[in-house]
Formats: sequence, structure tokens, C-alpha cells
Amino acid sequence: MEKIIKIFDTTLRDGEQSPGCSMNLREKIEMAQQLERMNVDIIEAGFAAASPGDLHSIQEISKSVKNCTVTSLARTHKEDIDKAWESLKYAIKPRIHVFLATSPLHMEYKLKMTEDEVVKRVGEMVAYAKSKCSDIEFSAEDATRSQVDFLARVFDTAIEAGATTINIPDTVGYTTPDEYYNFITEIIEKCPALKTVDISVHCHNDLGLAVANSIAAIKAGATQIECTVNGIGERAGNAALEEIVMALKVRKDLLKADTNIDTKQITRSSNLLTGITGIKVQPNKAIVGANAFAHESGIHQHGVLNKRETYEIMTPESIGLETNRLVLGKHSGRHAFNEKLILLGYNLNQEELDQAFIKFKELTDKKKVVYDRDIDALVSKQKIEIPKTYELEKYVINSGNTITSTTTIAIRKGEEILEEVATGEGPIYAAFKAIEKIIGKEMELDDFSLNSITEGEDALGDAMVKLRENGRAFIGRGLSTDIIESSIIAYINAVNKMIYASKEEK
Ligand code: KIV
Ligand code: ZN
Repeated sequence: MEKIIKIFDTTLRDGEQSPGCSMNLREKIEMAQQLERMNVDIIEAGFAAASPGDLHSIQEISKSVKNCTVTSLARTHKEDIDKAWESLKYAIKPRIHVFLATSPLHMEYKLKMTEDEVVKRVGEMVAYAKSKCSDIEFSAEDATRSQVDFLARVFDTAIEAGATTINIPDTVGYTTPDEYYNFITEIIEKCPALKTVDISVHCHNDLGLAVANSIAAIKAGATQIECTVNGIGERAGNAALEEIVMALKVRKDLLKADTNIDTKQITRSSNLLTGITGIKVQPNKAIVGANAFAHESGIHQHGVLNKRETYEIMTPESIGLETNRLVLGKHSGRHAFNEKLILLGYNLNQEELDQAFIKFKELTDKKKVVYDRDIDALVSKQKIEIPKTYELEKYVINSGNTITSTTTIAIRKGEEILEEVATGEGPIYAAFKAIEKIIGKEMELDDFSLNSITEGEDALGDAMVKLRENGRAFIGRGLSTDIIESSIIAYINAVNKMIYASKEEK
């Protein structure tokens, strides 16, 4: 009988903290709902003391999540713990996550605290958090570079003060699987109280060992793994959720452990995050990379056709990767569309359903066949849509390989229609220039990409535009069967996000 390992997802905290991964409120809520659909056990929704915006977003996530524990990070300060608790007031299952560093390096140079001071602070602040919330996690930051005897003392104190989960993070991604296994085994020997709580690990990927270290920790007795979708996170990122979950599922025979994760939601979670952050995973990335299930060489193709197991250790279906399953078309009605959404795991309210159906009908006018992936793209984009300060009205291009491209664009702003014309190297670049003229501001274009959602000549073009302002990135997405239109929509969406963010901050 395998033991069930709790999955603590920190995509919205450690992940969101990493460069280029910041998300607005709607995006965080949509991501949290997807994490819930995937059935993670704990969602770390943010760090409430970081900003009022963070606190607010944890509250909103707490309101929308029903089945998962929601947690907020806090330093060992009363004000941080108060804010964490305030941010969790709507959570059905709240957890306060308190952390303090325990390595000699961190204590001397960052905290400027002695060992005794650290122990005292941990005892006091865990007890303070416990006076508010029954579910308390304590993390010893930089645990893997801490002295094991001292760490045992800290953990004893935290458990005595009421911690129900103890986290042993490899904060700087320094340890190796064998070393971590021995470290955890030794700490359990030195602090037997650890057997009465959940033991958690949180591995960073600086040496590319985060997943291997997490698996080693499970063998040593860890019962909770902290990880992120696509492995995003500080520096080289955190352990990738999808890799840990599938390693446990595929090698259940060896590892004797599994998770509660609905693995069929993995691909959708990965795609949603990529769509929000604009950060794509490498094609050969395990589980969710574009090539993870592609068989290129003839020998491999032949083998897979004869017997799948020759070269595949798991099925694409097991991670929710369906090969272009035809679903709906021009003649599909509202009922079939609603049924499909339910099957895909979406839970839309009436207004969202109506809007999605209108968009679906518009799509079937342009595209003969509509696949699951088209519906995913359509619905997730709709759910993260923010108020449209600017909206595309129409555009005209004049382009060719012997002339400079000219684009004329008309954009709606409230009741007003604003029109401009610009020239440039290609119609898309000219369109971007025309938009800049309309909004009266030069933009820093950080990234631009175009992909198709499915194959075929009428495939939806998925454009991503990343604009930067004061070091912050704003990602806009645009979907259309016309790639120029999708690029223009993506650019306008990025501008709208910039405006929305400045309003959110006020
Ligand atoms: O990496 C780390 O140590 C952390 C802690 C706050 C858990 O993110
Ligand atoms: Zn971390």
C-alpha cells in the first residue's frame, strides 16, 4: 500500500516571486482554480506582508478555493503573522506558514541573530501564529546548510509551540539526493517529535537536482512536497510539480508513494501558466515539453506502433494531452458546448457561459473543427480578461515584399474611436507603431511570439506580446484565426494590463 504525499503548490508565491512571472489578480485566481481542479492539497497563495495587493489577492483566492488548504507566508514578526491571518480570513482551510533562517551564514550575515535568539523567536512566533490558526507550518530557511543538532533544537521548539508541518528547505539548491536522504534521516533521529507532524521539503533547482532531492526526501520520510507548475521559482526555479507527481505515479512500484493529483489536469495547468506568464517550457522538458511524447526516429515510431510500452513509460492521455480530439463544430448548440465545458472541468457562471458561447460561435464561423485545446484557450483567456480600456475596432494593412508596410488602426476607448496610421518593417510592426501613436506613449517591447493552438490551415493563432514598464513585464495574449489580428489584440491586451496594474496599485 503506497503512502499519499501531500502536494503543496507554491506557484503563486515562490513561483510568482521569480523574474517575469508576476500575475495580476484575475490571473492568480484563475491559476488557483486550476490548481484546485488538479487537486493539489495546499495552495501557497502569496506573502501577505509583501504588499497590500498581495494580501488582497490571497483573500480573493481564499474566497474562490473550496477544497484545498490555502496558506500565506510570514516572517517571524507579529505584523507579518497578523497580515497572513488577515489574508486568510475567508479560507475554509487556512494555514499560516512561518519561516526563519537557521544556517550559520544566514544567522550571522542576514539576521544578525545568535542561535539562542533564533530558537526563542521561533518558539514565540509559532505560538503567536498558533493562537490564531490551528494549521501552522514552520520552515527553517537554508535548512540544508544548517547544523543538524541546532536544527533539531529549532524543530523541537516549533513543534512544542504548535507547528503541525515542519519544512526542511534546500533554499539554495545545494544538496544532493544521498546527502539530503541522510540529512533528513539524521534529523528525524535527533528530533523524534518530527514523527508526529508532516515533514515537508522545498527544493530549489540550482544544480538541476530539485526533483531528485524531493524524491530522496520522500524515501527518508517526507510526507509533503513543495513544488511549482513548470518548475518556476526563484533563480533556477523550484521542483516541478508535474515531474514529481508523474515520477511517483509511474514508479509507484519502487517508491511506494503516490499523490492525490488528478494527473489529467497537468497539461492544462502547464499551458495556463505559460499563457499567463509568457514563459514557455523548453521543448524537451520532462512531462510538459512539446517533445515529451514525440517520437521522431523511425525505429522508435515503429516500436511504439507495435507496442506503446517499447518507448513510452506513461501515456499522453495520463497527463491530459489528448491528440487533437475533435469535439465540436459549426452545428453544435449551447447544450453540447455546456456539456463539453463540464467534461473539461470548467465551472462557469451563467454570464461567463453566455460570453464563452458567443466566442465559441464566432470561432466556429471561422474554423471548421474546434478541438479541446481551442476551447481551453478560449475559456482561460476569457477568465483572465481584465477591463478593456482600449479595444480593437478595425484595422487595414497594405503590405508586400516590395513596399514598406502601412497599417491603419481604429481603437475604441469608451465612446471614442481613435484612429492612426503608421509604417514599419512588416504589417505587425507597423500596427504596433500605430497603437503607440494612439495611446501617446512609446512602449518597450520585450518579447513577441506567435504559435498555433492546433494544426491545420484554419488553426487559431496565439500571439503573445510582452511589454515592459519600470522593470515590470505585462503579457498580452491574442487569439484569432488571423495572425495579424491576434498580434494586434495581444498588444492592446498588454497595454490594458499595464493600465489595470496601475489602477490596482492605487
Ligand atoms: O526557499 C525557501 O527556503 C523558501 C522558504 C520561505 C520556504 O521559499
Ligand atoms: Zn523557495
